[in-house]
Amino acid sequence: MKTKPPFKSLLKLENFPGFSQKDLTHLEKYYHQQLHQHEAPEKRVGWKTIESQRVRFEALTWVAPMKKAKILDVGCGLGAYWGYLKEQEVPVKYTGIDLFPNVIREAKKLYPDARFEARNLLVHPYPARSFDYSFLSGVFNVKVQDNWTYMRAMLKQVLKQTKKAVAFNALNADSGLKESNRFLVTPKEIVTFGRSLGVKRAHLLDHYHHLDLTVFLYR
Ligand SMILES: C[S@@+](CC[C@H](N)C(=O)[O-])C[C@H]1O[C@@H](n2cnc3c(N)ncnc32)[C@H](O)[C@@H]1O
Repeated sequence: MKTKPPFKSLLKLENFPGFSQKDLTHLEKYYHQQLHQHEAPEKRVGWKTIESQRVRFEALTWVAPMKKAKILDVGCGLGAYWGYLKEQEVPVKYTGIDLFPNVIREAKKLYPDARFEARNLLVHPYPARSFDYSFLSGVFNVKVQDNWTYMRAMLKQVLKQTKKAVAFNALNADSGLKESNRFLVTPKEIVTFGRSLGVKRAHLLDHYHHLDLTVFLYR
């Protein structure tokens, strides 16, 4: 695996397809504010409640039995998915990555036993097929100029580095949520999009939480 990438290049506009400079500045400011305004770990990464964070982890984990699998948590925040897997006694080899070094520093304090890195996969990918399963929870929730372009670039990259399946979630447009800074998708849109990524099978998980949809992309 590659060593630590330099931080500055993680946040260059050219490495965020579908973003404007304003989007990138907003993303950085938003996650910085969440981290410093709150105390509860789930709120510090933008979730409203711990239940809504956990129910997403539960849905993602249905992707397959993961005993001893090598997994990548993209946009790991404070590493709560690692905490969840340990609590559920799912033994995995875990790596968590996030764009922001200050988030990663805090994750390391909370979970000194896990591997965390500040990394933008679009700049510093891992070698092909490095992980059995990859996960993205909450990574696509912030609205930018062209979220579909961004999601496609990210998921294509994550798929390359994953042997078996990628699981990700997005906010459900059918929920009626009215927050203009959120990116929302319909179940039909997201599963059609998943199928367009050249995978063997795209599977949609709905009705576990009114705000959320999960997609499994099997290679
Ligand atoms: C809503 S938070 C969720 C954090 C964590 N997955 C959880 O559920 O607790 C989304 C996280 O994704 C990170 N993020 C957003 N875009 C990213 C990218 N392109 N690469 C890595 N991390 C990203 C943000 O910094 C933030 O920590």
